[in-house]
Amino acid sequence: ENDFFQLIINKRSVMSFQRRDSIRIGERANYVNSPHVIAMVGLPARGKTYISKKLSRYLNWIGINTKVFNLGEYRRHATAAYKSHDFFRQDNTEAMAIRQQCAVEALQDVCQWLEKGGEVAVFDATNSTKDRRNVIQNIVVDRMGFKLFFVESICDDPSIIEQNIMEVKVSSPDYTNMNKDAALTDFLKRIEHYQERYQPLDEEQEKNVAFMKIYNTGEKVVVHKHEGHVQARIVYYLMNIHITPRTIYLTRHGESEQNLQGRIGGDSNLSARGVQYANALANYIKAQNIEGLRVWTSWLKRTIQTVAGVPAPQERWKALNEIDAGICEEMTYEEIKEKYPEDFKARDQNKFAYRYPRGESYEDLVARLEPVIMELERQGNVLVVSHQAVLRCLLAYFLDNSADELPYLRVPLHTVIKLTPVAYGCRVEHIKLPIDAVDTHRGKPKEPGKIVPESMTE
Ligand code: F6P
Repeated sequence: ENDFFQLIINKRSVMSFQRRDSIRIGERANYVNSPHVIAMVGLPARGKTYISKKLSRYLNWIGINTKVFNLGEYRRHATAAYKSHDFFRQDNTEAMAIRQQCAVEALQDVCQWLEKGGEVAVFDATNSTKDRRNVIQNIVVDRMGFKLFFVESICDDPSIIEQNIMEVKVSSPDYTNMNKDAALTDFLKRIEHYQERYQPLDEEQEKNVAFMKIYNTGEKVVVHKHEGHVQARIVYYLMNIHITPRTIYLTRHGESEQNLQGRIGGDSNLSARGVQYANALANYIKAQNIEGLRVWTSWLKRTIQTVAGVPAPQERWKALNEIDAGICEEMTYEEIKEKYPEDFKARDQNKFAYRYPRGESYEDLVARLEPVIMELERQGNVLVVSHQAVLRCLLAYFLDNSADELPYLRVPLHTVIKLTPVAYGCRVEHIKLPIDAVDTHRGKPKEPGKIVPESMTE
């Protein structure tokens, strides 16, 4: 396989694997912030795509520009409609050539994307032989000077594998013309073909290779020669995620006295309607009968008052406090516009990055919320009661929103947002409880710094 790869690389794409900048390979290899390739390893249906997508969502959310390159998509693009597992037989030389060519093309795109400023490329493929991994090492590290980290997912629990196949594989474009049972049988055969040549990562034989192995979705984790900040964060994150079904409920506090006056921040009590929402929320949660529910609030009175009647263990997180508006705390938007017109305008121009003088930006909030996300990943059912800006940040993590979209996500008062993990993402439901409240959403005005009626915002 190695020779075959060299041939394709030398023939077709030698230019594509050369650096276009002036950094010499040896130099870049020592950079702390070199671009990274995270290459998945493992048999089909071991959750590689799940890990790739989830990792990419997390890294993008913490501000590391990340993209997934899925080899299956390249293969589907390069071939006519999928017929059967025969395509993946080890003795199918014609198909093997196509598959190897696809791998080279995908790697070429990975390298080009990193050259253009991407920070982490996740190469989502089986990469299940030592030869294949050598080729990746050769291109990514030796030729390009990027950092390389393998993430292997190992699973020997047939029920998890079958569940994975039924959840995401039988509905894949490969199986549009096959019924579910036939697709399951075909996929299991496909796995057998891979199994014939599968070589798990090996500490002895791949001595200098940085990798982590995840056994049975996190039961055990082995980390080998990882280095640097990015890899450390990836290891830590992947050690914390789990796939046990659960639900996360997000809600803002009930309407507060300062909401009624249009004032931001502060630490006021609930309004009369806010108290009604607290009661309605307690009834809603009781009716759901949620197993092992935990309740997290901020340190501010309005969130604590909101869960007064919710019968579940409660914890307070300072990290869940609302964005600190610094010198603008407890002012209305009109007052800010009047007193600090330049700031008001600057915030509209780049709401994610804008930091209130002596206060915070949305970007700061994301950093402050990272431990909350990490702990949420570890937990089962949780009700998080927090604030408009904070919940925008948490929602953006679950729903994969960009930094541009994040500060404008709608998180209305008196609404429970229910998040249920499904396949590769999250199902989101908005449950509006029937108690009126003011609308605190200020959309992006067409002209920065303008206070415009809600109907005229984008
Ligand atoms: O108005 C309610 C509130 O939670 C304020 O405390 C906070 O400053 C604001 O929303 C955040 O929303 P935005 O970033 O749109 O001003």
